[in-house]
Amino acid sequence: MSQELLPKVDRGDLQEVFIEDLNWLAPDVKQSVTATDEAGRKVSARNIASYKGLRVWVCDERPGSVLEAELDRLIAKTSTDRLVIFDDDKEQVWRWPVRRAKDGSVTSRLTSHRHKKGGADPKFAARLDVIRMPFDVVLDANAVLGKVREAFDTEAQNESKRASKLMATMYAAVEKAYPGKTDPKVRDHEISVTLARILFLMFGDDTEMWTTDAFRNVIQHEVLPDGSNLAQVLNELFTFLDTAEPVHIPSGFAGFKHVNGGIFEEKIDLPALNRDFRTAILEACAVDWSGISPAIFGSMFQSVRDAETRRALGEHYTSEENILKTLNPLFLDELREELTAALARDTTQKKVNSLNKLWDRLGDIRFMDPACGCGNFIIVAYRELRAIELQVMEALYDLRDKHQLSLDAKADLKVTLDHFYGIEIDEWPARIAETAMFMMDRQCDLKLRERFGEAPERLPIQREATIVVGNALRLDWTKVVSPSETVVVAGNPPFLGISGRSAAQTSDLQTVWGSGYHGSLDYVTGWYARSIGYFGVHAGRFAFVSTNSISQGEPVGPLFRPILDAGWRIRFAHRTFPWTSDASGKAAVHCVIIGFDRGGPRPRLFDYPSPGKPPIELAVTGSINAYLTMGPPVIVDPSTHPLNLQVGKVAYGNKPTDGGWLIVGPDERPAVESDPIARRYLRRYVGARELLHGGDRYCLWLVDASPTELANSPVLRERVASVRAFRLESDAASTRQAAGTAHLFRQIAQPRSAYLCIPRHVSETRPYFLADHFEADVITSDANFLAPDSDGLVFALISSSMFIAWQRAVGGRIKSDLRFNKLLTWNTFPVPALSDEQHASIADAGQVVLSARAHHRATSLAAMYAPGNMGEALTAAHQRLDSRVDAAFKVSPEATQLERQSHLFEAYARATSGLLGGAGSGRQSRGRRK
Ligand SMILES: C[S@@+](CC[C@H](N)C(=O)[O-])C[C@H]1O[C@@H](n2cnc3c(N)ncnc32)[C@H](O)[C@@H]1O
Repeated sequence: MSQELLPKVDRGDLQEVFIEDLNWLAPDVKQSVTATDEAGRKVSARNIASYKGLRVWVCDERPGSVLEAELDRLIAKTSTDRLVIFDDDKEQVWRWPVRRAKDGSVTSRLTSHRHKKGGADPKFAARLDVIRMPFDVVLDANAVLGKVREAFDTEAQNESKRASKLMATMYAAVEKAYPGKTDPKVRDHEISVTLARILFLMFGDDTEMWTTDAFRNVIQHEVLPDGSNLAQVLNELFTFLDTAEPVHIPSGFAGFKHVNGGIFEEKIDLPALNRDFRTAILEACAVDWSGISPAIFGSMFQSVRDAETRRALGEHYTSEENILKTLNPLFLDELREELTAALARDTTQKKVNSLNKLWDRLGDIRFMDPACGCGNFIIVAYRELRAIELQVMEALYDLRDKHQLSLDAKADLKVTLDHFYGIEIDEWPARIAETAMFMMDRQCDLKLRERFGEAPERLPIQREATIVVGNALRLDWTKVVSPSETVVVAGNPPFLGISGRSAAQTSDLQTVWGSGYHGSLDYVTGWYARSIGYFGVHAGRFAFVSTNSISQGEPVGPLFRPILDAGWRIRFAHRTFPWTSDASGKAAVHCVIIGFDRGGPRPRLFDYPSPGKPPIELAVTGSINAYLTMGPPVIVDPSTHPLNLQVGKVAYGNKPTDGGWLIVGPDERPAVESDPIARRYLRRYVGARELLHGGDRYCLWLVDASPTELANSPVLRERVASVRAFRLESDAASTRQAAGTAHLFRQIAQPRSAYLCIPRHVSETRPYFLADHFEADVITSDANFLAPDSDGLVFALISSSMFIAWQRAVGGRIKSDLRFNKLLTWNTFPVPALSDEQHASIADAGQVVLSARAHHRATSLAAMYAPGNMGEALTAAHQRLDSRVDAAFKVSPEATQLERQSHLFEAYARATSGLLGGAGSGRQSRGRRK
């Protein structure tokens, strides 16, 4: 619709456009604003319209970037929220207000749009539409700014998506052009390099790195429509861009500048390319690459390659939100706080000193992502550091008159590309990362120009980020960047459990962990091991996005003990949250983010009480432990005996190892029952499913069967023979040996009296861990644990809120289900010494729970405890049980789960203190360690 306004805009009738067409209000500032440059040249701008404090200013000329920036600075003194238009005969520059107040991220105040007069310019027209005010509703300024920001953000997202699709088309087109016999490694390498170059050229076309559209014009005018000379033209152009002083400038190349740097250095002889590839390039050139977010498209480009490659390397891309969740608490927030503190100093001299100190600190930082993919962590880190640097420079600039401070916005930059490092095993993303860093650099420079009117000349390229192509678990990180306390390491390395990784990847992991290797460690932990080794005695910081399994169950000890022993502490952690990603083919995982340092400010802990919602930051007192809860830095090791011997022992259930021949399904039951001997030994058989959801299964329990009976029953003869055959085929010698007692379960733990049956897993949504009593003639499978529990204490404790809080904190999971483990969660449960009275009252309260359940005999345990479905009597019984267990633990009945966990870790630390290897280490000497 606003397309119709463009002729008026082009004529310069801007006041009419704003007031008549876009429904803005009359200007509210009478005086114009005038800026003067060093040569005495003056330019002015006048206010032509306003809307709730947001003002539009127009300058009837384009005085050049320095004066434009100065004029804008003067306008900013009275109009924080402003739109400034510079207008001459041929074009206008619209400086739009874009406010970003996203938790600690960049606040970019203006963004320029160059509008060439006479063109269709649909994007510009769309922006005008966004600032068309409604007739009858008055918006506030924030709502208007919000609309503008949304328009820019959506545009960047959409353009980035479109751009990655176009890159995919080009990838496919160039891949097809390679002769079938080409070595795939050579082909992939050449495509990676070539597409990264083309990307760079398209971006340069749109960001004044050379004459605008020089590359597009070469493809349009120098390449024949059928694309037959495309490869030759590209080969020549790449060579030309790499030549410092070319003797001859081929036709169409005059608009470029010498690029230098690694981009065009390697000579690649491209195969014959065709019309499709030419069209693909021209289509991609139509995108406005200046507004593309390198952080977004990087992850999308990586998905250009096939899904199989992605899976094999364990890729799943990190959204910008998750990158900032890592970088902000690791180091960026601290720098921003330092900036605020510097600005709050009481004298100009102190402010200048503090700002300069911070500026030096920014320049000292080195950042490395050792699994960098397309470089999104380093790109965002660079962008944010440059943004802080820009704020420092602006603050110093504002103080300069009072302090004769010299500031050369171009030359003084201290945050530079060569302070950023990446390691990536796959060449394609590594090449994109390098290019994307140039792009980010240029975008930051353009912002600098908006504020100071000048930007550094980067061509020929002098400095670049270092992206090493290689295996980060094998190559020496100290050769990439020397370790020091100013190095920050962060990223999102691949997550691969033992069954998901290749033999080579397992060998990587064994090599980095050495004697500390443990089969439960995920591939991602290799990056933690390397970080400890890399930093050695240096301070520094590191943080990785990881699968949440590293802070649960068995891997906790093998991973965290070496880190804590090396003097690191958890600086911050994001507790489990579901993964979202900018790339398609998202991996479905739950993540944590953990950052380490060797001491510093109060640690920070982020929790996700409502999945899918932003985290809340918890008030941490003391430290964060390996289970990502507040509490002493203990590590809970598996233990062969309960910590408190008053608490009964639990045992593994009965393990058949029978190929299914001792188990009787409902359909087989009639046949077994028709055999008079076999029917005597038929028993109810309970696995976790039957325990929780009900349902009938049976087994042949032949412990008391005589050899004669076994021989005389056709059913038993056949089934026992089949078990024997099954066991004899096993690779395990002990199983083959058990073929001699083929009528028996392979491991037997069945008590001769009633017992408690505890499932190996329950859903994480259950309010309590579930268990139930059975008579001795009900056989439990090894999907359950069992305990004699004659007085009901085990049942009562396991059914309490304190136990499920402990289980959730230290137990492992299968998918997200809670996994009971006798060594790790039961034996370590730090139950305080119970008086006889407490013992009896807790057991009694357990009986009340069982009685409340008895009212629902026909209902399965799963249904009885479905979230939101617990009946009143059952709820009351559990509350009563909780109140008794809580009293024994001395914990408030109102305590949250996290508070219960902190309390439990304190209790665990106390209970094991006599057994500790070192103060607070939580090492438990009698614990079983693998
Ligand atoms: C989860 S992706 C992260 C990529 C990117 N930083 C992001 O967050 O979107 C993990 C990256 O690690 C790379 N990778 C896998 N194994 C590696 C290894 N042994 N050494 C270095 N990089 C590796 C993969 O190719 C992939 O790019």
